[in-house]
Amino acid sequence: MVKMARMTELEQRLQSARAEAEAALAACADLPALDQIKAKYLGRSGSVSAALEQLGKLPKEEKPRIGKLANEIKNILTAAITAKREELEAKTVASGPAIDITLPGRHHPIGHLHPLTQVFERAVTIFRRMGFAVEDGPEIEDEWHCFDALNTPADHPARDIQDTLYVDLPSHEKYGRYVLRTHTSPVQIRTMMKQKPPIRIVAPGRVFRRDNPDATHSPTFHQIEGLYVDKNVTVADLKGTVEFFFQQLLDPDTKVRFRPHFFPYTEPSFEIDLSTPHFRARGKEWIEIAGCGMVDPNVFKSVGYPDDEYTGWAFGFGIERLAMVMWSINDIRLFTENDVRFLEQF
Ligand code: DAH
Repeated sequence: MVKMARMTELEQRLQSARAEAEAALAACADLPALDQIKAKYLGRSGSVSAALEQLGKLPKEEKPRIGKLANEIKNILTAAITAKREELEAKTVASGPAIDITLPGRHHPIGHLHPLTQVFERAVTIFRRMGFAVEDGPEIEDEWHCFDALNTPADHPARDIQDTLYVDLPSHEKYGRYVLRTHTSPVQIRTMMKQKPPIRIVAPGRVFRRDNPDATHSPTFHQIEGLYVDKNVTVADLKGTVEFFFQQLLDPDTKVRFRPHFFPYTEPSFEIDLSTPHFRARGKEWIEIAGCGMVDPNVFKSVGYPDDEYTGWAFGFGIERLAMVMWSINDIRLFTENDVRFLEQF
């Protein structure tokens, strides 16, 4: 009798859990309530699961029957919950806010490379094709690499506080004060100090000068430096390389002219003028674009190369200047103002 009573009791608990769950499901009106019902009856500590746990304590001959009943109820409730969920979900979608298909789509603006980065990348690609490697140097440079080693003596105007931005750091015991580099030319020195010729490098980077900003001046701008050192390197190599570069970058019909000039680190030195069909059409023949020359023997001396063994050439182009020529941009400040109306045009 005790056994029968216990069996009945368990069966009764299962049956009444089922009835209770079915009534709750019938009354259930939303998905959170449905989740609660599911947890209450079928969850880990829900009533059907609790009843199933009791199975272990039953005598052997009763287990199959009650086990079967418990599983049936579990399956019936699972199916009923699934059906209810589908019904509620369908209702939620149907009663939700209507989709207004006339609304404009959401715009995701896609960025692109800054025009200066584009010029850098195009320039570097052309030089790489000619076998030039890319070198880098610090933007905070010391006086020796920036000036002395480049045959630029202490009384040169570029060393003046009016021209150069000095950094408030203790001086280097050997290399002097720290400066924001005024040109990319110190990368020539750094490269020659660490390797022997043949050297064929370009060094793109940012430079700084004590300039007040106006349409053609900016206290920070960019350059690309070039250096080629080997035995028997001549001005003809320099001119051929520079001409090929600008014809690739700008127009196959670009002409290049060298005008004598002075730079402390090259002898002879030149300024490079360009003439493109684009500019000729606007009645402007020559545009000054860069400096270059044959590496001064004093520069080879500062990096410890033997006398008279090597010759080489170097150049430095302003990247902003190139970009301004390429796209007829008339104000250098546009490059740093970050106005998307300007930037999105490139
Ligand atoms: N460093 C020069 C400047 O900033 C440009 C330049 C001229 C670089 C002649 C060179 C060079 O390498 O040979 O104006």
